[in-house]
Amino acid sequence: MQSLHTSDGSKIITAYRNLSQIVTLGGALKKDGRNLNTSDLGIIENASIVFDSDHILWVGREDDFPAEYEHASRTSLDPTQIKTLYFAGHTLTPELVDSHTHIIFGGDRSNEYAMRLNGASYEEIAAAGGGIIFTMKETNRLSTHELYLLGKERIEHFASIGIGTIEIKSGYGLNIVKEKEISEVIADLKEFFSPKIQIMNTFMAAHAVPKEFATSSEYMNKVVLPLLKKVKVDAVDIFFEKNYFDETDTRQLFTLARELGIPFKAHADEFNNNFGAKLGAELGALSVDHLLQTCDQGIAALAKSKTVATLLPGTGLFLGKTMANARKFLDNGVKVAIASDYNPGSCHCDNLLMLASIAAPMYKMNLGELWSAITLNAAHALGLYSQGAIIEGLKPRFTLFKCNSINQITYNWGKNLACNTLAR
Ligand code: NIG
Ligand code: FE
Repeated sequence: MQSLHTSDGSKIITAYRNLSQIVTLGGALKKDGRNLNTSDLGIIENASIVFDSDHILWVGREDDFPAEYEHASRTSLDPTQIKTLYFAGHTLTPELVDSHTHIIFGGDRSNEYAMRLNGASYEEIAAAGGGIIFTMKETNRLSTHELYLLGKERIEHFASIGIGTIEIKSGYGLNIVKEKEISEVIADLKEFFSPKIQIMNTFMAAHAVPKEFATSSEYMNKVVLPLLKKVKVDAVDIFFEKNYFDETDTRQLFTLARELGIPFKAHADEFNNNFGAKLGAELGALSVDHLLQTCDQGIAALAKSKTVATLLPGTGLFLGKTMANARKFLDNGVKVAIASDYNPGSCHCDNLLMLASIAAPMYKMNLGELWSAITLNAAHALGLYSQGAIIEGLKPRFTLFKCNSINQITYNWGKNLACNTLAR
């Protein structure tokens, strides 16, 4: 969707006209993504928008379209060109953001899915040699190039369903060499897909502890912490959970990240309430994710903080766990996002919008809360504060849908109404 520069260096301005609706999320932005209702969607009917490669220049009703953007070329002295596209019957929303994925992996774990349907739990399967450690072995078998190609193909599928920003975590290498390599693969993919797809590179070597380390602390000190000083990433994450990493590991990681100026986040309170949400909120994490077991103290700490509570409905559903108590977070003024958690084990589904459609009635979210969760608040969960609403001055990152109202999009759950993000 980014406009280009012409060969003489002049800027192209793009106008999308006659859209059935533009969903600005203007109200949601003003309220910092909290305590939202449907009117915070800020819908403009029969709308148009003008933008250049960096900023939204104007948005409003087609009837009020500014004369200055009407003509293809204004004067011979002014090299600005205006590219106009007509989108009757389409709806424009802020860009879909998947703020939590584990895309770079080898192998598959469909056998674990079958085992779970026979009654085994995620934790039991992991203890018996499956889970993250199994995927680590399969990932280590693949070359850098094979991992790059798998990642590329998966990202292209995300784009085909309208997702424009994707956070990708490392975490299936679990040794110095492979974790570094995976962070570099993500960096290469980031460069390849920019600017149409914006990739955020998260370092998550603290995903599981390989057998050759006696304790999580030994693995932290020999692999995770030294490597964090070497990689160039956008954020760092840790699986703060019983049998994975504990509070000491988490504090140690966050402390080093802060020293290095790298934002941090955590998988927290998934199987047990370990006060991970509380810790993350108090230490200034960008987000804490999962939160199936978060207690009232965690929710209170989040409400007072900028930390986003990222819910991953696909994971709870796919593992047969209880769902997060979304209403409690929302009613207490917490900033809530929804992400896919796409990974080979706990949620092998990359369709963020379908997951959000299914989650909405279970979480009892209104459409303002739901759309903010997969656009504005999801962007904030990645530290991206210049996108997420269609307001003058913000970045022109949006998703276009082939339908005439916002209601149609999640109503048609599982049906892809999005225009491919790579196509524009
Ligand atoms: O977010 N919880 C940790 N990581 C993933 C699961 C990864 C896997 O099972 O391979 C998650 O659910
Ligand atoms: Fe995850």
